[in-house]
Amino acid sequence: MRVGVLTGGGDCPGLNAVIRAIVRTGALDHDFEFVGFRDGWRGPLEADIQALDVNAVRGILPRGGTILGSSRTNPLADSAAAGGRSGLERVGANLESLGVDALIAIGGEDTLGVAGRLADAGVRVVGVPKTIDNDLSATDYTFGFDTAVNIAMEAIDRLHTTAESHHRALIVEVMGRHAGWIALHAGLAGGANVILIPEHPFDIEEVCNYVEQRFKEHYAPIVVVAEGAHPKTISSSVVDQQLDAFGHVRLGGVGQLLAEEIERRTGKEARAAVLGHIQRGGTPTAFDRVLATRFGIHAIRAVADGAFGQMVALRGTDIVRVPIAEATRELKLVPPERYAEAEIFFG
Ligand code: F6P
Repeated sequence: MRVGVLTGGGDCPGLNAVIRAIVRTGALDHDFEFVGFRDGWRGPLEADIQALDVNAVRGILPRGGTILGSSRTNPLADSAAAGGRSGLERVGANLESLGVDALIAIGGEDTLGVAGRLADAGVRVVGVPKTIDNDLSATDYTFGFDTAVNIAMEAIDRLHTTAESHHRALIVEVMGRHAGWIALHAGLAGGANVILIPEHPFDIEEVCNYVEQRFKEHYAPIVVVAEGAHPKTISSSVVDQQLDAFGHVRLGGVGQLLAEEIERRTGKEARAAVLGHIQRGGTPTAFDRVLATRFGIHAIRAVADGAFGQMVALRGTDIVRVPIAEATRELKLVPPERYAEAEIFFG
């Protein structure tokens, strides 16, 4: 069997570990051949491929990024249509002409949404969930998340010492889109003064009270804010109104807004640090390498079993199969009781 592999959407640490596990398991256990599609859905849309065999995946386990490249190309968008064919039809036709019998799509909500549509159209697809945001409802964890949390936690640890030297409040803005998982975990692990997440709109007065309380105890406050967090009075924090191919706005800027407001209201110096793409770069943690490797092994087994339209997922410590549609049905958000655990340590 000839199996195509692609990585779509925002990259994250662990993608190379999945690719390696897919190719090594497929070649060794099933004698499969592989073809790599470049830059997410752009690859099958434009028949842009690269060689993918055991030699090509040697040494990539600890490497961040993806050897296949990634993009947010959306075959479902009107712009993907060409020559009288829709984007989905172009993908299907290219898979056929390249002799690709099955496809493994590694991605988040958007990439898997396209995979689901292709599966409905009869294409033999298996999904692998990935995102640093950890917001896919069908799996307990996605790889990339643990690495992002550890990077953010280390940043918070470092900011603590400099904040204390200068008696400043430091505001750390982390990624996560509309989910507060990265902020919640990094903030808890880093001993944040207060953690602000999109699921729980904040009251600026209350945030300032926490900050002042921390100063009174002669500690400098670290405020961890998710990029999607917003005050009760405003519905979202958006850097610009530009939309990507999947219709997402670019989030960000809430850290700076908070710093200005905290400084104005408390009279204490406040600065913002935006971690941005640092959270997506570099080598994956051991947890992410292991999870990614297990996802890869189980994805190729799903292909061998003909379990198309399915995605691998982590449930407890087991890797299971779930319909791809389940992963994209709704976002997995931070439940109030998890936020309440973090609130114990605020102030
Ligand atoms: O979904 C992963 C993610 O890193 C989000 O946390 C963030 O909002 C977004 O991607 C940033 O996307 P881009 O790299 O396209 O700016």
